[in-house]
Amino acid sequence: MSDTTFKPRVFSGIQPSGGLTLGNYLGAMKRFVDMQDAGTHETIYCMVDLHAITVWQDPATLTRNTRELCAGFIAAGIDPEKSILFNQSQVPEHAQLGWIFNCVARMGWMGRMTQWKDKAGKNAEAASLGLFAYPALMAADILIYHATHVPVGEDQKQHLELTRDVATKFNHDFGVDFFPITEPVIEGAATRVMNLQDGTKKMSKSDPSDRTRINMTDTADEIAKKIKKAKTDPDPLPETAEGLEGRPEARNLVNIWAGLADQTVEDVVAQNAGKMFGYFKQDLAELAVEKLAPISTEMARLMEEPAEIDRILGRGAERAREIATPILEKTYDIVGMVRS
Ligand code: TYM
Repeated sequence: MSDTTFKPRVFSGIQPSGGLTLGNYLGAMKRFVDMQDAGTHETIYCMVDLHAITVWQDPATLTRNTRELCAGFIAAGIDPEKSILFNQSQVPEHAQLGWIFNCVARMGWMGRMTQWKDKAGKNAEAASLGLFAYPALMAADILIYHATHVPVGEDQKQHLELTRDVATKFNHDFGVDFFPITEPVIEGAATRVMNLQDGTKKMSKSDPSDRTRINMTDTADEIAKKIKKAKTDPDPLPETAEGLEGRPEARNLVNIWAGLADQTVEDVVAQNAGKMFGYFKQDLAELAVEKLAPISTEMARLMEEPAEIDRILGRGAERAREIATPILEKTYDIVGMVRS
């Protein structure tokens, strides 16, 4: 463990590799807003475009998705004055520290990552080298700011453990106490939002069926329809949260409610005990429309001003570099690079 005291600082990132889903919103973005508004930490949020290109991205679509993601952050409540908001490729220190970490992390560590195994599939030979090294760049994203806390959804836990391993190995190899041992922040009822048609699978932007997810750009009608058609079982809501055991679809809808309403699962269950899912889904659809439709409307409005979005990203990148540059320079000194 580190003896050095690091400034409380939050970093997190989202890939601009497709539309934002309710999973991204409840598992990540909404919690980013809470941490920003709590005012206890400096908050830095990034659109990780360099990560997105570890799998093929059409260039024009990548540009659009990055701007749309930025609009999503702002519409959800991120204030670009309070938080630092930018896209990764405009801060070259991420890639520079990423290279150093490629030389610290071990092949075996990367090979054990479940995301690598899932994404590379059976044909790992054809996957990009960037996809394999993905977690080293992610460690660099976090550690280039000496971030102490990283809010993420459940699926990023293993990558954050690797970030701690990279910091520990770097500090140990060079005999320094330079990089913090970052704390993952995986909290709340909706850290793993599931597929609306199959409660055993994660809700994902890459699922071929649009009915399985709520997109943050969906209209009020689409949101309501998808929730009303979500898969459930024939039983009513249980009396206690334990009664959700073995009922993945029921549990998912309750978690979504809890996430949207900032309630605990216990409270949602107590409030709706014995209700049939047909009625529960109607109420949930109303709640979701009330919370989400204003965000999609605001996103659409912001997307009409791409130059303003680019200005915000540029300004965010400048502020990010003010923190990242001295940390990279110090890293180079520690490693023994000549800087003249
Ligand atoms: P990405 O772009 O896949 O997802 C962004 C964030 O959304 C969360 N998330 C979910 N949470 C709950 N339920 C779901 N169904 C769901 N789907 C996605 C993710 O956990 C994540 O917090 N590797 C990261 C991006 C990244 C990053 C970083 C994150 C790059 N560098 C540094 C934190 C710190 C990723 O692919 O997230």
